[in-house]
Amino acid sequence: MNQEMLTYYNETGDKEWKRLEAMWTEFFVNSAFMKRYLKPESRILDIGAGPGRYSIALAQNGHSVWIADPAASLLEQAMQRANEAGVQERILGFDVLDVRDLSKFSDASFDAVLAMGPFYHLQDTFDRKIAAREISRVVRPGGYAFLAFVPRTYIVARCLADPEYFKSIAAPSELFNFWTNGRYDTSEPGRWTGAFCGKIGEMCDLFIDAGLERCQLVSSESVTMFMNMERLAAMIKMEEPARSQFEKLILECAEEPEMSGLSIHALYIGKRI
Ligand SMILES: C[S@@+](CC[C@H](N)C(=O)[O-])C[C@H]1O[C@@H](n2cnc3c(N)ncnc32)[C@H](O)[C@@H]1O
Repeated sequence: MNQEMLTYYNETGDKEWKRLEAMWTEFFVNSAFMKRYLKPESRILDIGAGPGRYSIALAQNGHSVWIADPAASLLEQAMQRANEAGVQERILGFDVLDVRDLSKFSDASFDAVLAMGPFYHLQDTFDRKIAAREISRVVRPGGYAFLAFVPRTYIVARCLADPEYFKSIAAPSELFNFWTNGRYDTSEPGRWTGAFCGKIGEMCDLFIDAGLERCQLVSSESVTMFMNMERLAAMIKMEEPARSQFEKLILECAEEPEMSGLSIHALYIGKRI
C-alpha cells in the first residue's frame, strides 16, 4: 500500500469528516441514491470508510454497518463518532482492512458494500481487479455495491485550468502520461497523493467483469460543480418549496450520462448477479 497516501489520511484528522460538510452535494447525492437501492435493515460493509460519515448516517437509518479502513487513525475517529452519535449497537465491527483482502468475510455475507474511496488509490490494474472481485464476492446475489471513483477527465480539465495546483502533471508530456495511466502523485506535503483516476468506460467494465451489473452511474456533484461554497450554502438554506425543487433538480441532473465525466466523483451502482 502506498505509504504517502496512508500518511496523508492518517494525518488528515477532522479534515476528511468536514470534507463532506463542505462538499454538501457529494454526500446528499450519494446518500439519496443509496437510499433508493438499500432495503430496510440491510447488513452493509463500508470499506474505505474513513471517519465514517456514510456508515454513521446509514446506522442512523436503521442499517447495520461494518466499518473498515486501512488508516488506523481514521478508524479510531469513526469509532468515537459512532459512539457520540449513539449508534454503536448498529456497528457490526471496526477493522483495519485493505479492500484487496476481504478474506475475513465469507462469500455473500453483506446485502451491500460501499467503497467510497479505495478506487481513488488503487494505481495498478491488477489491484483494481482484485478489489472489484473481493467486493463482488462478499455481496450476496441481488445485493448492491456503491463504488466511487475520480473521473480522469475531471483531473485533466482541472489541471489545464489550474496548472500550478497540479504541478506534477502540468507539463504537456506529463499530462498526457496521466491521461494514459491515470496515476497522480505529488511530493508536496499535506496533499492528496498516491491517487488513481479512472476513465468512465474502463471503470464500468471493471465492475461489470467482477459480476456487478450496472444499475446506474451517477455524478456526485451533479450540476453544482461550478457553484462556490457561499452560493451553495445560500441555496440549501432556501425556504420550501424552493429547497425541495433545488434538491430534485440536483438528483435528476446527477443521473444524466454526460454529467459523470466532469464530476469530481462518479458513483457506480452495481447489482451482484
Ligand atoms: C477520500 S477518503 C473517503 C472516506 C469516506 N469513504 C468518505 O467518503 O468520506 C478515501 C479512503 O479510502 C481509503 N483507502 C485507500 N486505499 C484503500 C484500500 N486499498 N483499501 C481500503 N480503503 C482504502 C483511505 O484510507 C481513505 O479513508
